[in-house]
Amino acid sequence: MKSSERDLQNKIAQKEAKICVLGLGYVGLPLALRFAEVGYKVSGLEVDEQKVEQIKNGVSYIPDVSFMVHPARIHATTDPSILSDADVAIICVPTPLSKTRDPDLSQVLEAAKSVAQRFHPGELVVLESTTFPGTTRELLLPLLEESGLKCGRDFFLAYSPERLDPGNQSFNLVNTPKVVAGLTPSCLQLAQSLYGRIVARVVPVSSTDTAEMVKLLENIFRSVNVALVNEFAIMCHRLGLDVWEVIEAAATKPYGFMPFYPGPGLGGHCIPVDPHYLSWKLKLHAYKARFIELADEINREMPRFVVERVADALNRDGRSVKDSKILVLGVTYKRDTEDIRESPALDIMKLLYEKGGKLSYHDPYIPKLSFND
Ligand SMILES: NC(=O)c1ccc[n+]([C@@H]2O[C@H](COP(=O)([O-])OP(=O)(O)OC[C@H]3O[C@@H](n4cnc5c(N)ncnc54)[C@H](O)[C@@H]3O)[C@@H](O)[C@H]2O)c1
Repeated sequence: MKSSERDLQNKIAQKEAKICVLGLGYVGLPLALRFAEVGYKVSGLEVDEQKVEQIKNGVSYIPDVSFMVHPARIHATTDPSILSDADVAIICVPTPLSKTRDPDLSQVLEAAKSVAQRFHPGELVVLESTTFPGTTRELLLPLLEESGLKCGRDFFLAYSPERLDPGNQSFNLVNTPKVVAGLTPSCLQLAQSLYGRIVARVVPVSSTDTAEMVKLLENIFRSVNVALVNEFAIMCHRLGLDVWEVIEAAATKPYGFMPFYPGPGLGGHCIPVDPHYLSWKLKLHAYKARFIELADEINREMPRFVVERVADALNRDGRSVKDSKILVLGVTYKRDTEDIRESPALDIMKLLYEKGGKLSYHDPYIPKLSFND
């Protein structure tokens, strides 16, 4: 074992490793708090000053995180110089789509540049953001090696996807197995050792490309199955059948079937977005990811289907959407979260509004909503 690896192993084992989490959002904040909870010295680099202030004041902006039940504190700051002192830097920044629905890795690259500018021997860098296979190896590695340091010898690089499910009362960071991969065997060893301190089970895989693909399979599995059941809802409607009865009965099969339920579409920062990372990557390899694109098409059409059903229901009563008072119950993308990113409820509201509906909504998590959201 090289001395830099041994030093960091020791620091991790003795909880002396200083950890800096970049991006204190849904993924980064609980992660930072968990490391602090088990005894590490943790800092958080966040570009949003408001979030930094809220953390300093002990106020949580994420429903699943209550500072009252997390006595451990983290040092949050907007000052990137905090990275000079870090033994481990974990990148948890957003990976959205561009206007043309291509991957937008600008925030990951910005965060990686912040790390690179204060890079020092012996450091472990982990990317947690969801992205296409090859990101860690093809983009982060060269950026960090510009320093002249060599990966696996002078510094270590790993990828570990986050599996957070906001609002889930049963599974959390600690009891959800964590997939980990390293660029080299030393990188993997260190990342395994690090995450082994905070989660019950670490699942090592052979390469960072594989780990990136694992996360995409998990999310695309959901997107495709949701699309399938959404299309079943449309087909059942045409056939005059009750889709819920069909699903409940099918779910009594004790093997080979997993129930998914229809809804108004897909929301959140992950499931509607991440599959495009893979289809984009495959385009570079002259391959069309047909399942991904079809699932996206079906899921995207669901708000329109819901609006048609509303219009039909009003029509049966001799009324039109125009000038009808319509109350939308729940606008976040799923229950028990205040996240409205990509929420199909917003698309439904826009469509009804365009048809002249007089809209109001109720959602205990969203006191105010602007149509620009
Ligand atoms: N939210 C989820 O349920 C979930 C689950 C699994 C994986 N992910 C993935 O994790 C990543 C982060 O998602 P999230 O939901 O936590 O996003 P988020 O928007 O809640 O948080 C990201 C934070 O990073 C900050 N940030 C952006 N650029 C920065 C920089 N250069 N330096 C420091 N901070 C910076 C932002 O201000 C923001 O507060 C994404 O790739 C997402 O796909 C999210």
